[in-house]
Amino acid sequence: HEIEWTLEMAEKAGYPHFMLKEIYEQPRAIRDAIHGNKEVISRVAGEIANYEKMIFVAMGTSYHAALAGKYLFQRLAKKIPIVEEASEFRYEFEDLVDKDTLVIAITQSGETADTLAAMKLAKAKGAKVLAIVNVVGSMATRIADLTIYTHAGPEIGVAATKTYTTQLTVLTMLAIELAKVLGTASEEYLKELENELEKVPGLVEEVLKHDAAIRELAENLTDRRDFFYIGRGIGVPTALEGALKLKEISYIHAEGLSAGELKHGPLALLEEGVPVIAIAPNGKTFDKMVSNIEEARARGAFTITLSDRKEAETFSDVLIEMPSLDELLTPIIYVVPLQLLAYHLAVLRGNDPDKPRNLAKSVTVE
Ligand code: G6P
Repeated sequence: HEIEWTLEMAEKAGYPHFMLKEIYEQPRAIRDAIHGNKEVISRVAGEIANYEKMIFVAMGTSYHAALAGKYLFQRLAKKIPIVEEASEFRYEFEDLVDKDTLVIAITQSGETADTLAAMKLAKAKGAKVLAIVNVVGSMATRIADLTIYTHAGPEIGVAATKTYTTQLTVLTMLAIELAKVLGTASEEYLKELENELEKVPGLVEEVLKHDAAIRELAENLTDRRDFFYIGRGIGVPTALEGALKLKEISYIHAEGLSAGELKHGPLALLEEGVPVIAIAPNGKTFDKMVSNIEEARARGAFTITLSDRKEAETFSDVLIEMPSLDELLTPIIYVVPLQLLAYHLAVLRGNDPDKPRNLAKSVTVE
């Protein structure tokens, strides 16, 4: 009996879906993002370091990368950028952008209509425009003054995965280079961060080993109607992205929020068995996260904690153990279990994760 191979099967390289293949490609993609960009990013950093007004514009997953970028710029380069959804920027910033403004557009496709419109507006007002893009030669790269490529390779799955972690990689490198130019962090610390970033592809490989355990976890959660993802500081974008992945492909309602906001409303929605997923790396807000997790658990929530602190086991229903690394690098590895969880829930619920209903890979209409 012969097995017929279709082109699509060949392209999936043995994976049941493009999304899973792309999740597994992340170590390679991140390595390429690092090694393909060293010179470009140091040159770009030199060109943009002196802008006081910095505005990130993006949509969807790229918007979450922009949020992480804001934390990285704040912590390393002592810049205070604004992050705007591109769809809002056009209407709110028209009079606030000028030649002293740097607009950083993040778009994996380079074709998102709202992001392109924001870039065109910024150019028309004389602003400098930097684009962080995956697709070579896309429209965004033609509008921008400066382009950094994420080198993730083609992404077929509608839900962004490897393009997100490579955006985060590039933003981390850019923040480090800015800090070098501006002298806003010690050379030793920046060197340490660079060394740790080199280890990230290997750490993502470690995290991918949780795949089977995450699939088992997903088997017990297929009937849940709401999920909450909480984080603090640079963990907030990860919480938002985890929730977005789940909504996009599993069609389960999910909210991502900063853990401090839990008490200001969402806590009222917690009842027996509602999954609360906590992004809790070791760092200055770890203890605060612990009390938020306990708070949720006291309301009967089913708590899943991502942490490198083993003691998190004692106050969580499930601990997904993460490798230890500098807090600023955690977004790149902490999103991986959340991608896998969303993927398995989608498949278990009978959905095609590569082609979620109502969504498109790139939104070329406003
Ligand atoms: C669509 C895709 C998302 C993506 C967003 C922004 O909604 O489904 O995965 O994050 O567009 O796309 P961009 O290409 O600009 O990053």
